Amino acid sequence: MDRQLMARALELAARGIGQVSPGPLVGTVIVDESGEVVGEGFYLYDRVKHAETVALEQAGSRAQGATAYVSLEPHAHHGRTPPCTEVLIKAGIKRVVAPIEDPNPQVSGRGFAHLREAGIDVCVGLMAEEASRLNEAYIHFMRTGRPFVHLKMAVSLDGKVATRTGDSRWIAGEEARARAHELRHQYDAILVGSGTVLADDPLLTDRSGRPRRRPLLRVILDDRLRLPNDYQLSQTAREQPVLLFTSSDAEPASELKQLGVELVRIEGGARDLLAMMNELAAREIQSVLAEGGGTLAGALMDTGLIDKVTFFIAPMIIGGLNAPTAVAGTGASRIKDAFQLEDIEITRRGRDVEVTGYPRSKDEG
Ligand SMILES: NC(=O)c1ccc[n+]([C@@H]2O[C@H](COP(=O)([O-])OP(=O)(O)OC[C@H]3O[C@@H](n4cnc5c(N)ncnc54)[C@H](OP(=O)(O)O)[C@@H]3O)[C@@H](O)[C@H]2O)c1
Repeated sequence: MDRQLMARALELAARGIGQVSPGPLVGTVIVDESGEVVGEGFYLYDRVKHAETVALEQAGSRAQGATAYVSLEPHAHHGRTPPCTEVLIKAGIKRVVAPIEDPNPQVSGRGFAHLREAGIDVCVGLMAEEASRLNEAYIHFMRTGRPFVHLKMAVSLDGKVATRTGDSRWIAGEEARARAHELRHQYDAILVGSGTVLADDPLLTDRSGRPRRRPLLRVILDDRLRLPNDYQLSQTAREQPVLLFTSSDAEPASELKQLGVELVRIEGGARDLLAMMNELAAREIQSVLAEGGGTLAGALMDTGLIDKVTFFIAPMIIGGLNAPTAVAGTGASRIKDAFQLEDIEITRRGRDVEVTGYPRSKDEG
């Protein structure tokens, strides 16, 4: 029963995808003493009210003596809202079931401690893995101060991402491309190298059709400032932000600025991926979907900046020694040093196969 209700709280939390960043996804279910669900809620940043408050308002007096299933530790501090712990205590909640602590240093452990001090029975750990996955970007950002980076590529069976002439449309089929828009919807920013922009003139928008709170930030690494003024990204920069990292001295005079492209010149240029990520973090960008090309993917991998990987593998063979592969850079010298994945999920997307996984921790060999 507990598991089923926690699964429901997680399901509710997921309704906030695209609408909570820079906060976490949170869902709450209130169950009264007879076992009946009397309140449900989830968090949306712009609605301000936290999931617990929404669910408790629905429950009204039936929250007295009830159990609250909360997908993340309730906060005990005054932020944009009064502490959720206080709201739960005041409502007369008897038991709180939560999977994980909130990694936010302002919250971590304090929420549970506050509830326990008030005599509430607090049970932590149920569906911890699922809850951590749901908020993986938020948790990573809170722990490291850097955005969570998800590398997404579409490859042929022989690992190519384009033909020898640079043509890449389309390697992935329709279903895989629709899925890629779902992925974009979950991220604060999308990242590509200048090679991809020059070859494809992409728009890089979230076409999932779902609402999002902040526009998807389109980030380009373009050291030599080669983005043409008449490309889609330049032409749409006023409608949806484009952030361009460069080391070019031409930056102050660039016409791209007039078009609305924000230029950031960092010491060491866009090659300094850590500095670039720090700049994104300073803008509260918690998650980045890196969409290539191979040069950028290789640089991210060599720098150890990839936190999740999704490859769509299409049943085609492109061939050609000089056709670009998915990941360039230096790469591994021995198979045992290859970037290994764990927690792998394999899903059929029309004629393609989606493989998603996480970098295997080093100590696992
Ligand atoms: N199938 C797929 O999923 C997929 C996805 C994306 C692209 N593609 C294809 O891949 C091809 C382009 O790939 P690519 O490897 O040539 O280009 P890329 O990785 O998109 O861009 C590489 C360029 O980005 C700039 N850059 C700036 N900072 C960088 C950094 N820290 N690390 C790496 N690069 C940085 C460099 O140019 P500057 O020195 O000028 O700054 C570099 O040459 C195209 O044919 C495209 O169609 C396929």
